Formats: sequence, structure tokens, C-alpha cells
Amino acid sequence: MYEMIKLNYNYKDLEPYYDSNMFNYHYNVLYKGYTDNLNKIMSDFNSDRKNDDFSNIQSLSKKLSFNANAYILHSLFFENLIPMPNKTLLNSKLVNHIKKDFGSYDAFINELNKSLLNIEGPGWVVFGYDKYLDKLLIIQVEKHQDLILIDFVPLLVIDVWEHSYYLQYKTDKTEYIRNLFYILDFNVVNNRYNSI
Ligand SMILES: [Fe+2]
Repeated sequence: MYEMIKLNYNYKDLEPYYDSNMFNYHYNVLYKGYTDNLNKIMSDFNSDRKNDDFSNIQSLSKKLSFNANAYILHSLFFENLIPMPNKTLLNSKLVNHIKKDFGSYDAFINELNKSLLNIEGPGWVVFGYDKYLDKLLIIQVEKHQDLILIDFVPLLVIDVWEHSYYLQYKTDKTEYIRNLFYILDFNVVNNRYNSI
């Protein structure tokens, strides 16, 4: 059984940067739905294996990609948030790695912002490390039912689906992104980086 991650903050404390009603809907309705779906899909896979009946494997496989990625990405996203006052910083080893791969820290931040603002339709922006390419990268994950990079370890995950900001920010994605930066937990990013 997969479970929703436990939050180590009270989501009212993310205000005013992230409205608590919007968070409640995002976490307790949408994220719960993806988690429940994932568990149902796993159980359907088990039944099919038991019955040696793979007649619906195509639709099951699509549902798996969509819901498993939604579950993973939301878990990582909610984990990398923190209420204000947010004193977390990227550690110097990761900052040096960023400078090496992106040219400068400013270039990294600019690329992150542009990736968030210019994603086409619903999706995610993920900053991570690809082991095979040996490279830190920012990728736009436009549809999470599609596979993301193989061997890519997510370090920072940001939800830019409309449901993640519309109730509070309407169509002002720029303001949502600006405010989200106040509540990103870079300690979590450091820990993920250190465990590569
Ligand atoms: Fe979301």
C-alpha cells in the first residue's frame, strides 16, 4: 500500500504564499485521489497476474504511468515546501555543482523561472541530476503520464498544473511562482542531493 506523505508543517502556516483551502484541495482531494488510484491499479495488476488475464494491459499501463507519476511528483513537491520564515539554503557543494553545469547560479535561477513560466499547458518543472548524463538539469514535465528522463533523480519539484494555483492566484502564474520561492525547502533539496 502506498500512503500519502505526512507533512511536517501545518498547511495553514504556508499562508499567505499558498492559500490553505487551495492546499487542502490539492493535498486531500487530488493527491489522495492519485494515491488511491495507484493502490487500486496495483491491486488490478495483481488480479490480472493471478488470473493470467492481460486483456486490459494497455489501459492499466497508461493509468499506472499517470497515477504513479502524479503520486511521486506530488509527494516530492509537498515534501519540498516549508513555511516562512524560510531559512533554508542550498549547500555549497550543490551550489558549486550548479555553477559548473549552468554557468552561474543566476543562470540556474533564470532558467528555473523561465521553465516555470513557459511550460506549455499543465505540468511540472523538475530540477534534478541525471546519473547517466552526469548532469544537473531542469526539465519541463508537460504530461506526467509520459516517462521522464531515465536515471533522472529529482531534487526540486514544482507543480505548475493550474489546480496548484488557480483558486488563489487565478491566471497569475507569475505571482504564484514568485511567492512559491518563499516556501521552498532547500534543506530537502540538499538531502536529496547528498543521497545521490
Ligand atoms: Fe498538483
